[in-house]
Amino acid sequence: MVDDTQWLEEQSAESLRRLLPRIEARFRDSTDPVEWETYTNRLRRHFPPLFQRLHALYGTSYDFFYHLEGVLASATEMWLARPAELKALDALREADPFWYTSNRLVGATCYVDRFAGDIEGLRERIPYLSELGITYLHLMPLFKSPKGDNDGGYAVSSYREIDPELGTMEQLAELATELRHHGISLVLDFVFNHTSDEHEWARRAFAGDKEHQAYYRMFPDRQMPDAFERTMPEVFTEDHPGAFTYQPRIKRWVWTTFHTYQWDLNYENPEVFNRMLEEMLFLANQGVEVLRLDAVAFIWKRLGTNCQNLPEAHWIIQAFNSVVNIAAPATVFKSEAIVHPDEVRKYVGLHECPLSYNPELMALLWEALATRDVRVLRTAMQRGFVLPDGCDWVNYVRCHDDIGWVFSDDDVRTAGFDPVEHRRFLNRFFTGGSPDSFARGAPFQEDPRTGEARVSGACASLAGLERALAEEDEEALDLAIRRTLLIHGVMILIGGIPLLYLGDEIATLNDYNYDDDPETAGDSRWIHRPMFDWQRAELRRDGSSAPGRVYQGLLRIIQLRRQNPVFARSETEIVETGNQHVFGFLRSREESIVFVLANFSERAQKLEARRLRQMGMRKTMVDLHAGRVITATQELEMEPYQLMVLTRVA
Ligand code: GLC
Repeated sequence: MVDDTQWLEEQSAESLRRLLPRIEARFRDSTDPVEWETYTNRLRRHFPPLFQRLHALYGTSYDFFYHLEGVLASATEMWLARPAELKALDALREADPFWYTSNRLVGATCYVDRFAGDIEGLRERIPYLSELGITYLHLMPLFKSPKGDNDGGYAVSSYREIDPELGTMEQLAELATELRHHGISLVLDFVFNHTSDEHEWARRAFAGDKEHQAYYRMFPDRQMPDAFERTMPEVFTEDHPGAFTYQPRIKRWVWTTFHTYQWDLNYENPEVFNRMLEEMLFLANQGVEVLRLDAVAFIWKRLGTNCQNLPEAHWIIQAFNSVVNIAAPATVFKSEAIVHPDEVRKYVGLHECPLSYNPELMALLWEALATRDVRVLRTAMQRGFVLPDGCDWVNYVRCHDDIGWVFSDDDVRTAGFDPVEHRRFLNRFFTGGSPDSFARGAPFQEDPRTGEARVSGACASLAGLERALAEEDEEALDLAIRRTLLIHGVMILIGGIPLLYLGDEIATLNDYNYDDDPETAGDSRWIHRPMFDWQRAELRRDGSSAPGRVYQGLLRIIQLRRQNPVFARSETEIVETGNQHVFGFLRSREESIVFVLANFSERAQKLEARRLRQMGMRKTMVDLHAGRVITATQELEMEPYQLMVLTRVA
């Protein structure tokens, strides 16, 4: 029997022997011989994994080698077009491949128009970002997209054109350079599961062009859609039933997982892979350092499955990763998989996505605030926080999307809760269904049949500030601020890149105007996507105002991270604190250890001092967060929602 791996290796070596001379003949003379050698060395190194993945995806196709040559030709052309400064960055990053695991990384995300009007406006706001210590900036999609409904830019009509109201591609590239000169890496979305129905490919498909119809997944009648839908959950339940939209003009059912105007690309067609890799490298060549791979779970479909997280989805990303390693190695992938935690982790790896959102931590921070109980959070993080070497989480408490309760039912059961009831409780708690809840949020994509829903809302409103202000309740206001700082504290210090949702640092509240605007009405996520309030931002230096208290509190925690190498990539150990209201973890690096404790209850809590000593602490410790010495002989007392960052006195 032929050994599969050996056979593949031989095939890969043979293909490279055949293809490389052809690539050399076409492109070698366009560049300096030394650079060319660096490039072809990379190509040789990353060709075997690329070949393997593409072979697994498209190997049975009669014109596989034609497409393979196309992939190499596109990669080479895009590398040749890569600006010199970015080629220099490639070399820097190759020498320091895990740069993104540094404790100096602090992320922020925003909509360009809502934060600063346009790209020029954003350049002017760089000092605001620097003041906060931001070194990683994710701009929400800013590409050309349909007027009106466009899913906040996630319906892309051209990956090479910027929404004219925001600026031009040249301005974006200049912005990337300027950000880099300020120590900020630009992060953009690579929305590769779908294009908008106004993308040129969709337009051609719409005009009846068969070649472009094959770029998408479309069917002449309901037979296949019905068959697929039998095993597939709906994603945007409120938008349209099922996953398909009928296009009468071409008499086709088009696959639209999200909105009806977002057409899913057909990666079974190797041409689509090639065209999309060009779009991806084009973005990398504008100076984008991290690509946020949008909706990774959905890119491959197979009959009889739920069409999420299929092995081929991973192979596509791995093949893209090999391509960037060849043609734009400074680029790092971050996966956006808002699915079951076990599936989220499968996208993380040096050969796939070194970075991943951590939706489980996000959801469980809110869960722990609602229950005042950290057991689910602790169990889940103990089980799943550690990632492969060189990979890291991108942690967040809020983002432009809703909060989905994407935690594991087993972890919920371990804590003694019923998962279905628990999700219902959380939805009620955060959307006004329980009268004593501090939170003010709104349901998102409520499914009346199953009772399932997700939650929208701004951090400060969900943490209690909105209600406290409405009721003019000083004590509640204080608690709301403490909650906001507590969950930010955990997410900033636990390990990985913290990602602030701009506006949260000044305790921005829900914006209820979205329902009056036809473009945003009906999508409750707009409740937490308001225009950035620069007047409110002025209050950030006023320590007596709510925005000022949140801002200064956050700044302090950010500085803690930036100043202490123990918060760089290092071990995080989630520990049992002996108190179910207190979450705790240890961070250690060489000789130094810190012990972070977070009280998730509005009551003072006590911890046994001997447990702390068991974790390597002493009777006398320094709380780096409060900046004071603490002595705990019998017990350690924690204030309501207190965050402690304990370390031994030298
Ligand atoms: C991602 C985005 C979300 C968008 C969806 C479809 O989940 O975060 O905002 O609706 O992808 O592109």
